[in-house]
Amino acid sequence: MSFLETFDGTADPAARTALFFGAVQADWRSLFAELRETRPILDLPVMTVVTRWADVVDMLSRNETFRVTYAPHMDPSVGPFMLGRDGAIENWRDKAAMRTLLRWDDLPGIRATAAEVASTALRAATQGPSGVFDVVATVSRLVPLKIVQRCFGFPGPDDATMLAWSRATQADMFHNLTNDPAILQANIAAGQAMQAWVAQFVDGRQPWATAAGEDTVSRLLRLTGAGLSGLDRQGVISNVCGLLVGAIETASQAIANATAQILLNPTQAGLATQAAQKGDNATFDAIVWEALRFAPMTTFVLRVAAEPAVLAPGTDHQATVPAGRVVAAGIGSAMFDPAVFPGPDDFQTRPRDLYLHVGFGAHICLGQYVAYEIIPETIRQVLLVPGVHLLPQDGSAINNAGGPFAESFKLGFKAA
Ligand code: HEM
Repeated sequence: MSFLETFDGTADPAARTALFFGAVQADWRSLFAELRETRPILDLPVMTVVTRWADVVDMLSRNETFRVTYAPHMDPSVGPFMLGRDGAIENWRDKAAMRTLLRWDDLPGIRATAAEVASTALRAATQGPSGVFDVVATVSRLVPLKIVQRCFGFPGPDDATMLAWSRATQADMFHNLTNDPAILQANIAAGQAMQAWVAQFVDGRQPWATAAGEDTVSRLLRLTGAGLSGLDRQGVISNVCGLLVGAIETASQAIANATAQILLNPTQAGLATQAAQKGDNATFDAIVWEALRFAPMTTFVLRVAAEPAVLAPGTDHQATVPAGRVVAAGIGSAMFDPAVFPGPDDFQTRPRDLYLHVGFGAHICLGQYVAYEIIPETIRQVLLVPGVHLLPQDGSAINNAGGPFAESFKLGFKAA
């Protein structure tokens, strides 16, 4: 029986919702293939799900109509932040300022830092005779953490505290779908502690107008000290916190997922290894973004309709949702839409701007171009480990330890 036959035959709203999330868990690609084909906009009791690429991109483009839902999880934690707002000054001013400071010409240096951090850690982890190393424990969190510290200029008190802040904030802001109050409280505590640390850090660097350093935070202090960013002290603190919150678990998950997908595909693993060895980043990186399509960081991002609004306008499946309706933009599904991804089940490299890995529209990831460097570079270093391979009998399954993040991802290597 198809998903929709079972779904339509189920009257109880809670059972319908459970059926949907069960199908997402069990086989999201088949579920969304059926929906894109038969019911591109699915009404669930708790939300409306949008599955086709054009409709997802359309709704994410209209961010004052379909608004983000993160503010209750961000405001009490890191303070006023662009991802908690729509049609607000933070979207215009903060994003523009931060993009200017995350400079394009830093990207080669950022990639070189990722390469150095990853290769050093991997060399140390593959010294012994065990023949096994853990991608999460070795590099997937370490690389983005070191980028935050060294390139963004947010050194933090120590690695462990910064990783704890990252986990607690991400877990609530992006994974607390049931609104568990304990997870919210842990986020608020972490965000407040992070804000306190950043406050003393930036206060200690007055006068800001002459703050030294070519990293994002130092530039932010200079721009603000010169009266040019338009940000006040709180704005500076919140944006520095956002650099850490956005970077670590997202990159870690993407590194683990894409590496696994490459290694599961012997042809692609061969091509990727060749490109890695030659330093052919264009070929290598394209394989990474395609690999991530098969195991994306998230299958949807949520929005809420600010007013009665039309989804997929002008199509035969257009639908009106009332104000207050939660709408899920199916970015994972959209990346399998055959209208835009011909042969969606085939692994074939595609133009980078079709993918929705970093979102779309006004809230497209601020760290987008940093992510485009550090994720592939870290994976490249993993594939350069001599004899790297998946372990037999599910030994290389990504283990989330019951939580929202990849906690362990073990690979084999040829011990010297
Ligand atoms: C490298 C460091 C990163 C930083 C500093 C960062 C920061 C941010 C920020 C500030 C936003 C909100 C932008 C806005 O509201 O206008 C954002 C959005 C987003 N980021 Fe990142 N991010 C990073 C890495 C990543 C990675 C590795 C991924 C996934 C592979 C990712 C996926 C996303 C997505 C999907 C959104 C949109 C969320 C939505 O529309 O609801 N980010 N990021």
